[in-house]
Amino acid sequence: MDSNRQLWDEASRYLPGGVCSSARMNQGLGHPFYISRAAGSKVYDLEGKEYVDLCLSFGASLVGHAHPQVVEAIDRAVRMGIMCSYENECHSKLARTIAEAVPGIEMLRYSMSGTETTGYAVKLARQYTGRSYVVKFEGHFHGYNDYLAFNYWPEGEAVWPQVTPAAQGMPECLREDIIVLPFNDFERAAELFAARGDEIAAVILEPVNYNSGTILPRPGFLQRLRELTTEHGALLIFDEILSGFRTGPDCIQGAYGVSPDLCTLGKALGAGTPLSVFGGRRDIMEHVAPLGPAQHSGTFNGALIPVMASRAFFEVILEDGFYDELIGRCERFYASIDEIMDRLGFVGRVQGKGARFSFLFGPVAEKETIENYQDLLDNEWGLLRRFFAACLDHGVYIHTMHHHGLSSAHTDEDIARALEGIEAAVRTVMAAGPVPGA
Ligand SMILES: Cc1ncc(COP(=O)(O)O)c(C=O)c1O
Repeated sequence: MDSNRQLWDEASRYLPGGVCSSARMNQGLGHPFYISRAAGSKVYDLEGKEYVDLCLSFGASLVGHAHPQVVEAIDRAVRMGIMCSYENECHSKLARTIAEAVPGIEMLRYSMSGTETTGYAVKLARQYTGRSYVVKFEGHFHGYNDYLAFNYWPEGEAVWPQVTPAAQGMPECLREDIIVLPFNDFERAAELFAARGDEIAAVILEPVNYNSGTILPRPGFLQRLRELTTEHGALLIFDEILSGFRTGPDCIQGAYGVSPDLCTLGKALGAGTPLSVFGGRRDIMEHVAPLGPAQHSGTFNGALIPVMASRAFFEVILEDGFYDELIGRCERFYASIDEIMDRLGFVGRVQGKGARFSFLFGPVAEKETIENYQDLLDNEWGLLRRFFAACLDHGVYIHTMHHHGLSSAHTDEDIARALEGIEAAVRTVMAAGPVPGA
């Protein structure tokens, strides 16, 4: 790790914290973890040491790093001139593929990041409905655009019912237009709509709340939100930047059989290159200029490299058996982690949906139901940090606090290695005590 320390010193002279994105500070280590290269299911540190990657570019590498079909597609884009701001049939072919795969999408637009595209989706909803209020749920993350950055991971007094900006420097007036609710509390949503339904432009949510700990919607919750928003003329927006393609090509909306009016996609969509999408019902998307008054423009929208990478991504995920194999492996992996913790007498478990999962440590793991962010406030975050750092010592790379995953590049052998590393890390954490259940 000496070269990592040296690079951190050097990078910190020019990059705040030595990183290009604040979340890349590794909370387990207390410093960034620099990676020299990645291939398939593995990443390599600056000294060439190999790790099984369970971070997967924060979820962007669902088909593994540098999948050969993705590399070949990017190579084609390079030979076509690395174009951005120009378009050809590649863009409409990809749009068609996405619209055919994702039930809620009839038309779409490309952007680069999830932050941008969730911002565009709520602006379009406000323009389309002529209303200003947007409802979001506590613990649901939608990127750092100012419209939605409220109650991401508040603590203490700042939790709901407070409406708490998730970043400094946001215009104070934006707080007036956002309504925060606890996830899975349909009665509260219904009360709100009964009182102010004709002022609400949209309800936006992560249909599976991976960003707080893979919290699932209660049975019927998404469907009831669907009916409530329709009844009051508000739009239902699923932010599937992270959840998209974890369960199938039809995303979480397909898995639960509930179609939103608008949705966002990103991360996995670009197979490691920056591509996001907002899309939905044709009559809403036809409000985007030049057809309508809602603006969406950008030099890099639909840049050729990510568009070509995404076409290759779909070729891979639409192959027969892709999801059967991936999901089967994920489920075996999650069950094996639970088995390790049980066997070692460690109070913890995994909560997973499709190809992404979270760790619950301490008494929270024994709760019967986990419905919203506040149910997870007592997750043993400090212990998790120690565990993630120990995983790294044992050849397994885990980064974000809230969600981790497998890719289609993870073989049974990788999984066996990851399980060995996880078991060794649990033992390390237990030996350092005091830990719950020990
Ligand atoms: C659900 C969700 N929405 C939006 C974003 C923001 O995406 P990006 O990091 O590409 O700006 C994220 C990123 O983690 C996300 O998980």
